[in-house]
Amino acid sequence: MIRVAVALPERPYDVVVGTGVIEGAAGLLPAFPSARHAFVVSDRTVSGLFLESLSEALRAGGLTPIPLGVPEGEEAKTLQMAGTLLNQLAMQEAHRDDVVVALGGGSVGDLAGFVAATYMRGVPLVQVPTTLTAQVDASIGGKTAVNLPGGKNLVGAYHQPRIVLADVGALATLPEREFRSGLAEVAKYALTVETGLLATLEGRLPAVLAREPEMMEPLVATCAGAKARVVAVDERDSGARLILNYGHTLGHALERLEAFAGRSHGEAIAVGMVFAARLAEAMGLGPEGLVARHVRLLASLGLDPDGALPDVDAIVAAFRLDKKFHGGVRFVLLEDVGRPTVAESVPEDAIRRILKEMGAEG
Ligand code: GLY
Repeated sequence: MIRVAVALPERPYDVVVGTGVIEGAAGLLPAFPSARHAFVVSDRTVSGLFLESLSEALRAGGLTPIPLGVPEGEEAKTLQMAGTLLNQLAMQEAHRDDVVVALGGGSVGDLAGFVAATYMRGVPLVQVPTTLTAQVDASIGGKTAVNLPGGKNLVGAYHQPRIVLADVGALATLPEREFRSGLAEVAKYALTVETGLLATLEGRLPAVLAREPEMMEPLVATCAGAKARVVAVDERDSGARLILNYGHTLGHALERLEAFAGRSHGEAIAVGMVFAARLAEAMGLGPEGLVARHVRLLASLGLDPDGALPDVDAIVAAFRLDKKFHGGVRFVLLEDVGRPTVAESVPEDAIRRILKEMGAEG
């Protein structure tokens, strides 16, 4: 078991990474002396797998678990669903010291986190991420949100969890596509702020793809450590934390468009990272070979960045809803692997040309 500290001056907490962390949660949870209930938000698949053992651990820790079910996936991240959960908390007379537990992937974490951030202006939150994406990224750093019809994560709040319990044993239960989607986030860290991971991904790939716990525990902990470092210096996303959006400007734009429907978050950001590498090379910012290294790495992880893309105009319009938009669209680009920078003024003709080269219509 590895403990990673998120050293926020006013709200420090740990990410605990290991096998059996859900079962052993009673011995890991911080004290919630005035809490009576733990409201466990999860979808049907995840609760079928983990709710019983987590509930047992919560009871052993002196909390009465109350499950709150939500639909699977990103569709659950709506204001309406948040309203339903908030009403359920009120109907159950949830107290401001009671705990909301997010048990599941990034969508459940975002939704339950948003509910915890807003119920009575904020109640304690525990993140129990069960997907690779959530364990290495989404559960850490306090971003919570729901979607609007106009875009992803447009309504939200920063609300740090009291602890993150990342059980790498849960990764064995993930569908292959979901696991590989998470590997895109791991590749993001490897290419931007944690280049030591490149040796693991490039040299020990079979063990990674086999999800061997001895491999996944340090891998998840290294990513969590990278995220913790960045969040500790820029909790509110005004500088260093933007780097963690590598590949996400295009990735999020694609996810907003019907023509990209059916592809995973990891596939979207894989396309986004290759696009960013192509931009960096085309602008003379990044070295020759940067694109080839991205494509090689992502393809080896089963993330094929090729394939048809939506219409160029639609993509460019979708960029305007990016949260990094600041008088113009901003991209995280690499001067080389491990040397990210935020580019303010990327010429639109270069953006359009590269999108077309990558298969966008228009
Ligand atoms: N997923 C990017 C961030 O938390 O800032």
